Amino acid sequence: MYMHKIIIFVTLLVSTQLAIAQESRFGVPATQADIDKSFWSVFPDGEFLPDGEGNVAEGRELFEYNCNICHNFPDENDPVKNEIGKLFGVEDKRGKANLDQTIGSYWPYSTTVFNYIRRAMPLVAPMSLTNSEYYSLTAYLLHENGIIAEDDVMNKDTLPKVEMPNKDGFVNAYPEVPEKYLAKP
Ligand code: HEC
Repeated sequence: MYMHKIIIFVTLLVSTQLAIAQESRFGVPATQADIDKSFWSVFPDGEFLPDGEGNVAEGRELFEYNCNICHNFPDENDPVKNEIGKLFGVEDKRGKANLDQTIGSYWPYSTTVFNYIRRAMPLVAPMSLTNSEYYSLTAYLLHENGIIAEDDVMNKDTLPKVEMPNKDGFVNAYPEVPEKYLAKP
């Protein structure tokens, strides 16, 4: 009886370890497909934006369920949520104290909005939504900051063309960066 238990335990242990090793593929060289799958940075000019498409209405709904627990809607003013990250508002406070770094008043590139929320939000489950859903959320954020129209659709062609109000508010700290990585005018 006792021996049975040991055998079952060892079998379980070995099979779990094997499953983990297989899953992580330790020691197996990464293929180009593996590398492509894990590369999900989007550059300011829109290079590497994925396929997919999103709209403002869907973004509003996604925001309610995935983001509003931490971030205010445009017409809300919960001070705790404002502290976490105020996303709406185009008031130009450059050069003034207490700059609200909202998407409208601060962010220089529309593509960075997509890149940031896909890699970091919702805070508890980054990258958990589809690319189209991240396009919709980006569309919603841009629309509620007065940057795009209610019926504008965001995808890899339209998003890079969106000009942000604060696009000239930054200086290039790394002028030696190759032209390719800088946003095109
Ligand atoms: C559990 C709380 C939580 C949820 C849910 C959440 N966020 Fe955030 N968000 C944060 C925190 C905290 C920060 C500040 C992170 C930092 O400064 O490093 C932040 C920052 C941001 C910023 C950057 C704000 C700025 O300009 O500095 C954006 C944009 C953003 N969130 C969008 C979203 C979107 C879109 C969703 C839903 C898909 C979402 N967040 C869901 C907590 C949350």
